[in-house]
Amino acid sequence: MANDARQFWESFYGEREQVWSGRPNPLLVREVEPLTPGTALDLGCAEGADAIWLAERGWRVTAVDISQTALGRAAAHAARVGVAGIEWVSHDLTATFPDGEFDLVSAQFFHSPVAGDGEREKILHRAAEAVAPGGTLLVAGHAGAPSWHDDPDHDVDFPTTADVLDGLDLDPARWRVETQEVVEREMSGPDGQHGHRQDNVVRVRRLD
Ligand SMILES: C[S@@+](CC[C@H](N)C(=O)[O-])C[C@H]1O[C@@H](n2cnc3c(N)ncnc32)[C@H](O)[C@@H]1O
Repeated sequence: MANDARQFWESFYGEREQVWSGRPNPLLVREVEPLTPGTALDLGCAEGADAIWLAERGWRVTAVDISQTALGRAAAHAARVGVAGIEWVSHDLTATFPDGEFDLVSAQFFHSPVAGDGEREKILHRAAEAVAPGGTLLVAGHAGAPSWHDDPDHDVDFPTTADVLDGLDLDPARWRVETQEVVEREMSGPDGQHGHRQDNVVRVRRLD
């Protein structure tokens, strides 16, 4: 499965010179803007827009992806805009995870059509273990397919916010849920059609 995942994401990024918009995820911006910068871990950083936004605000970022192509583009983007303070590292998070604790651990749209059963949940569980005392875990993900999609890809799992929290299985004496929300945003489809999509956001704080 690990090699399949690496191949899948390499060929995904290989199809185009740039896949994502280059702008940070709005839910990351909304949830993290009020926080005091410290160390941050971005899981599945892709082409780096979130990590760059964080570093611009003073976070010292470890940004992880399985795709070397994505990491190369991310580093080039950071160099182009003159942003330092980001370590770009390759991990297949089903197999290895960065060492250490972080004031912020962020997983934005960490979906993969080639993920095995329970893999995402295990990675998010491990992500919670990497949050430093007083730190934050932020998980945003799609709540479902976009409105124009009449043949949703059934290989992709869209857990609810309750599913995410159940999978994290956090001790309520040590963690506080600060955001648990479904957010709808308007967006355009590939043929320019008007549509919308719902996203889930969960932000939890480690208390000690
Ligand atoms: C749907 S994209 C989301 C990217 C980005 N966080 C965003 O919000 O735009 C998922 C990213 O996770 C990475 N990824 C998928 N499986 C992974 C794994 N097992 N280990 C590390 N990264 C992985 C992919 O290469 C891809 O860049």
